[in-house]
Amino acid sequence: MTLAALELQNIEFSWAQQPKPLFAIAELTLQQGETLFIGGPSGCGKTSLLSLITGIQVPQHGTCKVLGTAMNLLSPSDRDRFRGEHLGLIFQQFNLLPFLTVQENIELPSKLFDRRFKKSTELFGSVQAHVDRLCDALHLEPALRQRRANLLSVGEQQRVAAARALLGCPSLIVADEPTSALDEENKIDFLNLLLSTASAQNTSVITVSHDMRIASKFDRVFLMPRREPQHVLA
Ligand SMILES: Nc1ncnc2c1ncn2[C@@H]1O[C@H](COP(=O)(O)OP(=O)(O)OP(=O)(O)O)[C@@H](O)[C@H]1O
Ligand SMILES: [Mg+2]
Repeated sequence: MTLAALELQNIEFSWAQQPKPLFAIAELTLQQGETLFIGGPSGCGKTSLLSLITGIQVPQHGTCKVLGTAMNLLSPSDRDRFRGEHLGLIFQQFNLLPFLTVQENIELPSKLFDRRFKKSTELFGSVQAHVDRLCDALHLEPALRQRRANLLSVGEQQRVAAARALLGCPSLIVADEPTSALDEENKIDFLNLLLSTASAQNTSVITVSHDMRIASKFDRVFLMPRREPQHVLA
């Protein structure tokens, strides 16, 4: 039996000092290999929800299971390791290491996490072979691969961030507003590349965005619950 990529049950989450829960989610399940779009307006808690899925935060109530593992039962250091081994993250600002080359940025997960090294080696013969495969799939030309990340265009940085997230075949990619810095045409091109490359590895993808125009690209769409107004304490 394959484990669900994500299972949320009866979740309630608030940041410290918040008088009411930021959001409550009764149930949300994503099967392995499926793609999910999570939408909702600015401030509704999309990035906060991703911090639960990635184990950076834990909910006050309910269960958040990722790949069958209940994140709230792991210690903080075990959650860090779990995240590095099983999840690929794409941040809004991409978080590339500016003085490393494209090649070095992409292979980073294989240097930090044994499981990612082994997966690339087992499935593609070597880490280099997997880097080359991802660069080809994401249209990162050979000449670009030795260039330092701080010399790239925004669109190039984004494709490098996607390649890095996919290296070592994590089971789940989690992306926070990955297309917000791109124009319409590049947005769709990038999503097509990300989703087709992930699908070729049977990697699930969860993307949060306020941009509902990209929602139709995903297998499933979840809208964040409407947020009740918070009382501001004087
Ligand atoms: N680290 C934090 N500590 C305390 N409050 C936070 C923290 N991060 C976010 N918040 C609050 O939680 C609420 C939701 O923020 P969040 O960043 O999750 O929204 P979002 O839906 O991702 O918004 P956007 O679309 O603008 O990125 C906001 O009111 C924000 O101020
Ligand atoms: Mg956000």
